[in-house]
Amino acid sequence: MTKKEAEKKIHALRARLAQANDEYYKAGRSPMSDEEFDFQVKELSALEAEHPEFAQAASPTLAIGSDLTPGFRKVEHLYPMLSIQNTYSQEELADWHRQVTEKVDPADPEYVVELKIDGVAMSLVYQDRKLAYAVTRGDGTTGDEVTRNVLNIKSIPGKLPASFPAGRVEVRGEIYMTRRNFRDFNEYSLLTYGKEQQNPRNTAAGSLKLKDPGESALRKLDFFAYAILVDAPEGTHWDNLGALLKAGFPVNVKRAKAKDVDGIMAVCAEWLKIRDDLPYNIDGAVVKVNDLRQQTLIGRTSKSPKWVIAYKYKTEAVETVLESVSFQVGRTGAVTPVAHLKPILLGGTLVKRASLHNFDEIERLGLRIKDFVIVEKGGEIIPKVVSVVEAKRPADAAAIAPPGQCPVCGSELAKGEDQVALRCDNLQCPAQVIRSILHFVGRPAMNIEHVGPALVESLLKEGLIQSAADLYFLKREQLESLDRMAEKSAANVIESIQQSKTRGLDRLLHGFGIRFIGKTGSTLLARHFKNLDALRNASLEQLLAIHEIGDRMAESVFNFFRNPATEALIARFAQAGVVMEYQGTEGSDELSGRTFVLTGTLPTWSREQAKEIIEKAGGKTTDSVSKKTTYLLAGEAAGSKLEKANKLGVTVISEEDLKKLLGLA
Ligand code: IVH
Repeated sequence: MTKKEAEKKIHALRARLAQANDEYYKAGRSPMSDEEFDFQVKELSALEAEHPEFAQAASPTLAIGSDLTPGFRKVEHLYPMLSIQNTYSQEELADWHRQVTEKVDPADPEYVVELKIDGVAMSLVYQDRKLAYAVTRGDGTTGDEVTRNVLNIKSIPGKLPASFPAGRVEVRGEIYMTRRNFRDFNEYSLLTYGKEQQNPRNTAAGSLKLKDPGESALRKLDFFAYAILVDAPEGTHWDNLGALLKAGFPVNVKRAKAKDVDGIMAVCAEWLKIRDDLPYNIDGAVVKVNDLRQQTLIGRTSKSPKWVIAYKYKTEAVETVLESVSFQVGRTGAVTPVAHLKPILLGGTLVKRASLHNFDEIERLGLRIKDFVIVEKGGEIIPKVVSVVEAKRPADAAAIAPPGQCPVCGSELAKGEDQVALRCDNLQCPAQVIRSILHFVGRPAMNIEHVGPALVESLLKEGLIQSAADLYFLKREQLESLDRMAEKSAANVIESIQQSKTRGLDRLLHGFGIRFIGKTGSTLLARHFKNLDALRNASLEQLLAIHEIGDRMAESVFNFFRNPATEALIARFAQAGVVMEYQGTEGSDELSGRTFVLTGTLPTWSREQAKEIIEKAGGKTTDSVSKKTTYLLAGEAAGSKLEKANKLGVTVISEEDLKKLLGLA
């Protein structure tokens, strides 16, 4: 490359990266994947090293991106809020380890490995154990004050216990959104704003910058603390994590110590395997020097500390052929395309289908049947078609036409009011009926464990049910008459249906599937009105008076209860004896009121001992993990309970964590 060419390339890369940084931090959009971004930064960095004459202090290789947004109070950070260096390779990790051992005794480096949560960095400043303000990273020196929005995050304590130092102390961590809450909010977003959210990170970032804290409360954000900052740090990072946990901060349970590169790699490989089972997205692991004095000694560059590095996981992508596209009808009538692929192995699983979101996505990608496509599995569960390999397009590749009629009931389709989704407006459409019943029995709603898609389908086909309410009137003999239904399982089905009657108003409302009212909205309404009668008699004004309920939500609820079909449905639920009162509990902050489930082999205590200790301290223990579980205490070889806890977003703690909670360690 000539000098001229290098200069041109440097400028082009800088412009592209600056633009990407701006979109990412200011608008909460990702114009390219993180991996592409990191790769281009490395490319630019190599060019700048080769041609120091073109160096520039503001280059994205030296300066961090800025999230500063007009309209927010600017607060100067007590300690600069830097970026962290990252790598995708073991070789570079080994280089970093070598650099660390140049500064600290080579026999002695100890590292702490943590998950790299894919969220938004947050600085929380406590004054005499009270949250004084919360600030975004900003440009690293100054950030935006977002305290009001942060106060809506339940897992961030506003007050700290006396065990925490007084005076001014800064806590840093990551604000994130679980995949479950993201899906829930995305559904709401699509219906309410006609806009699909890109990913949990970008939604979390956008939520922090909302001007109306009531609106931000709707987006359930979470937090993991990962650092305490003081003037002259002493002791270890590991112990600080313990102190944070003890002070009531959520600290991620996945943390491990390592002595060398092999040790670090072993942990990273282990976590890569559980990546898809975690309730939130991660993009790698963060490796930190454990000794805080050593951290200070090792120091930093203008952009990032030298005692920490992120080992990032590569997004797996494969090429395959798009064989066909089918159209699915969702519970609300939205018709979405699904890509059917030539089966291919991706991240250890055989992939046959990929999501395409909506018809616009097909147009954006320029997708045709028989195209070679790139399929990726990021942190998402369902793989995505990310691009088309146009160079390989066969001559007979066929354009994909939007369906004119509903693929299930044949009704004419219309573009919905959001202008993105194609919609089937026939409420009797069998696809909508089955999906709304499945929604009703689903875990976030009435959680009727033994009623799944196959059973609902045959119950509808046999005419044994027409709506979710009919489930409560099913007789054992009717079930036994179905194909492949043994006596025992018929009893289980009836049992689980009957048990669901007492789930309470919030879940029942969620089960109704009222438009614009997701899980969050249902809980808000249930908490406010306490029983179904009060809610159905509420005027539009009363509904609108609830802070978090917007116009479209209020109207939707109001209209729902004025629909004769709703009347009939509710009467039938009442006849079945389904509980229509809110029975939510809002527990206290002490160990009492917390429910524990134990699993696996603990390092020092037997399970019986641990149970006794918990119960003596006022906690409750139960055998199975549910949404009501506060903590899963997990030891070695934890199995299905751990999986379930992760799926439900239940906090997982270790024996050591429990000891800290009890003030024993
Ligand atoms: S430590 C000075 N630990 O990753 C070191 N960061 O890409 C401070 N992140 O800005 C960062 N999980 O927002 C640290 N366990 C973890 C993390 C973590 C996620 C974020 C953080 C940081 C970004 C860098």
